[in-house]
Amino acid sequence: MVLRDFYSRFSLDESLAEVVGHNPYYQIIDSGLDGKILVNGHEIIDLASNNYLGLAADGRVKGAAVGAVHKYGVSLCGTPIATGYIDLYQRLAEKLSGFVGLEETIILPSCYQANNGLFSSIAGPQDLIVVDRFAHSSLIQGIKSAACKIRPFLHNNLEHLEGILQRSTGYRQVFVVTESVFSTEGSIAPFKEIVQLCENYQAMPVIDDSHGIGVLGKSGQGILEEQGIQGYRGIYTASLGKAMANSGGMISGEKGLIDYLKYYCSHLVYSTALTPAVLAGIGAVLDIIQSEFEVIKGRLVTYQQEIYKSLVEGGFTVVPGAAPINSIQSGSKEATFILAKKLYEKGILSTPFIEPSVPIGEGRVRLIAGANLTQDTVAEAVEIIKRIGRP
Ligand SMILES: Cc1ncc(COP(=O)(O)O)c(C=O)c1O
Repeated sequence: MVLRDFYSRFSLDESLAEVVGHNPYYQIIDSGLDGKILVNGHEIIDLASNNYLGLAADGRVKGAAVGAVHKYGVSLCGTPIATGYIDLYQRLAEKLSGFVGLEETIILPSCYQANNGLFSSIAGPQDLIVVDRFAHSSLIQGIKSAACKIRPFLHNNLEHLEGILQRSTGYRQVFVVTESVFSTEGSIAPFKEIVQLCENYQAMPVIDDSHGIGVLGKSGQGILEEQGIQGYRGIYTASLGKAMANSGGMISGEKGLIDYLKYYCSHLVYSTALTPAVLAGIGAVLDIIQSEFEVIKGRLVTYQQEIYKSLVEGGFTVVPGAAPINSIQSGSKEATFILAKKLYEKGILSTPFIEPSVPIGEGRVRLIAGANLTQDTVAEAVEIIKRIGRP
């Protein structure tokens, strides 16, 4: 009886997918992210993945991963503090630090884990965290686990943030947490100004650059390069599973803090290290970025603009922005699912967001055209979008 009651609390409400006749989530992909992908046996244009630079199925990256498997095997079967700290890990951490221009880096199995582990290691009940109200679930969950005071500020709103900072006295430490690119919106944080506010009010800035690393900046180094932030003394996190085309999460910053986290961030200390294949794959992506970024970014920007134009022509509401993301304002949950279904049926895989990922009634359908797509494939996507918008 008790057992039955327990399980009955978890029955999944699938009525929305049933009414619409389409469940856009957990679609089975039968191929690599190489141009068009195979979904449930059908060829479809991938505008859903975060494969911004299109390097997830690049031959050089795959080659590096395979080489690492030959040398080290498929798993390190241990945490970095034990058997996971191979030379590849150490070299990659140094390379990533150099890439983003910060002193020291640790690499965790994911950025969700990095953001989750960070705050409970550095903040406690005497501290305050002021966080953008659109911040990613990983940041919010991580902040909650720190048991500190939390104050959200309006999305990218410097005035609101400053008002909170002015009123926030008596804490041991105040942190300001935000993301570089908010991927459901495509908006970019005014991070340079946020860093300045932090300096004025002696707060510690924390930036999650998951959608900025490898994408923003003249050479792809992310938000700090993009906004010309010199001598950053805050904390930096990023996912290695988006433009960096592998998986993992990094935390970078001043050496003393990162050395501390190497021993006290339990999400690092007690979790199996990233696989050798992934460590080598990220290294290969960094090499490609260093030599080809301008050309790859050129394609990414062109594709984003072409998709944007087709959406406007099709009558969709999209927020223009500098990020290589097109986010359609799709309204209700039903409308969001219906749009994702139409795109899917015509040959485009998209990412629909409904609450709680976005505020209630403010659904989004996100399209990201990675640099691995061909001009012909993008032209095909453009035609599909225009047809769906204005049939
Ligand atoms: C802003 C942001 N932070 C963190 C994450 C989590 O990154 P990962 O996939 O490496 O766990 C994501 C991924 O969705 C993200 O968009």
